[in-house]
This record gives sequence, structure tokens and C-alpha cells, in this order.
Amino acid sequence: MIVIKTAEEIERMRVACNAAAQVLSAVAHEVQPGRTTVELNNVAAGLIEKLGGKSPFLGYKGYPGHICVSVNEEVVHGIPSQRRVQYGDIVSLDVGIVVNGFVGDNATTVAVGVVEGRTQRLLQVTEQALHAGIAAARAGNRVSDISRAVQTMVEANGFSVVREFVGHGVGRKMHEEPQIPNYVSSGPDPKLKPGMTLAIEPMINAGASDVVMLSDGWTVVSADGAPSAHFEHTVLVTDGDAEILTWLKKSPYESKAR
Ligand code: MF3
Ligand code: CO
Repeated sequence: MIVIKTAEEIERMRVACNAAAQVLSAVAHEVQPGRTTVELNNVAAGLIEKLGGKSPFLGYKGYPGHICVSVNEEVVHGIPSQRRVQYGDIVSLDVGIVVNGFVGDNATTVAVGVVEGRTQRLLQVTEQALHAGIAAARAGNRVSDISRAVQTMVEANGFSVVREFVGHGVGRKMHEEPQIPNYVSSGPDPKLKPGMTLAIEPMINAGASDVVMLSDGWTVVSADGAPSAHFEHTVLVTDGDAEILTWLKKSPYESKAR
């Protein structure tokens, strides 16, 4: 069952998503050579608490971090550690928050200084693919219209879509129906309706699409070791264009969750 949010629930989603965007922005600004990934985690943890929220990732199926930090060939679910970010790395940050009973979920990949040309292009194309997917998230369209828009943008640019992980509905729970693959799949293909809130999140590899799970049970890496990028927004389906609920509205330094 896909939850259609009421006007009141949408207001609470707005608060959670604005908070999620603030935390992601704050952490992204802390990414610099020499920072450990657990320091990035701790910046997020402090701000999440200050905003009156909790991390929906911490403890989820035993996940040990407040956020996910995935470097270079790491695709998603990197566990914060003593690893130091280096000049030339790319760092994917996945940040969620639950505030007042609702979840906001978003992710971005940042370059640490100047990165290889093809890697820079990977970041651009993954963000563009996210926005192509968001543009297809219109009432009357289907989930597969989002999937197709993402996949087309990615493959036209010579990159590949990770199959094993998908976007999702989001609301009182971090993962609600529907699943939103970043490729056209043979799975369920519901129609989009106003009031649905969706986390659209392409995970895109510079090389082949295959991924491998590391022995920590969480970190997913590209099988060929090529870089991978991840961008995510939580959006609201409306009668017109989708509204990006995790678009940053206020500086983390001047705003509080209500
Ligand atoms: N944003 C991720 C998702 O949508 C977060 C889950 S990672 C975990 O699935 F750490 F919580 F498992
Ligand atoms: Co998500």
C-alpha cells in the first residue's frame, strides 16, 4: 500500500526534509582533506540532535552509523571510520533524519578538490539523472517513468545504473512503498498520485554496474573498483511539478526545526 500524505502530514514532511537538507549541507561543507569519515558522522550526529531529531539509519538492521559515508569506489552504506578523506577523492554522504514522526532522506556526492575528468562528469551526470527522474515524478505518470528518465540520462553518458539498490517511498517510515528502481524493471509499476512522498536516489557507477558487499556486511563497492556517485532527494508528487522537499532552504547556522 502506498501512503498518500494528508496536508498536515506533508507539513511535517517539509520540516523533516528541511532538517535533512540542513544536516547534509553542513556535513558536505566539512568534507576536506584530513577529515576522518567518523568526524563527518559526528558533525551530523550533533546537528541532528540540535534539530531535535534522530538518525533513522542508526540501529537500522544493526547499522552502526548516524549517516553513510562512501568514498570513491564505495557505492553506498559506507560505515564512518578513522579513514581520512584525501584530495582527489569523491565522498558520497547519505543523511536522513526523523523529526516529529516523519523522515527526510537525502544524499550528495562531493569532490575533494580537483578530481579526474571522468569522475567529475560522473558527479554531474548522476545529479542530472536525479533531476531527470524528479521531472518525471508527475501525477498520472508511473514509477517506471522515473526509472526510465534516470536510466536514459545515465546510459546516454556512458555510465551504468546500480541494480541492487533502489529509491523508495518515505514518510513515517524510512522505507515505504513503492520501490523506485533507477532502471526500467519488470516489478510493480504503480501510478503516481498527488500526496505521495518519494526518495529518488540514483547510484551510478563510472564502470560496470556490478557491485560487491564488503566483509563488514554494509559497505557496497563497485566490483571493478571504478568510482561511484549517489544523489538523493525526497520529493512530493503534486498536480504539477514535483516539489523537492529536501532542497536547502535555510542555513544550518541560523535555523531550527520547529
Ligand atoms: N538513504 C538510505 C536508504 O534510503 C539509508 C539506509 S542506510 C542504513 O536506504 F544505514 F540505514 F541502512
Ligand atoms: Co533513501
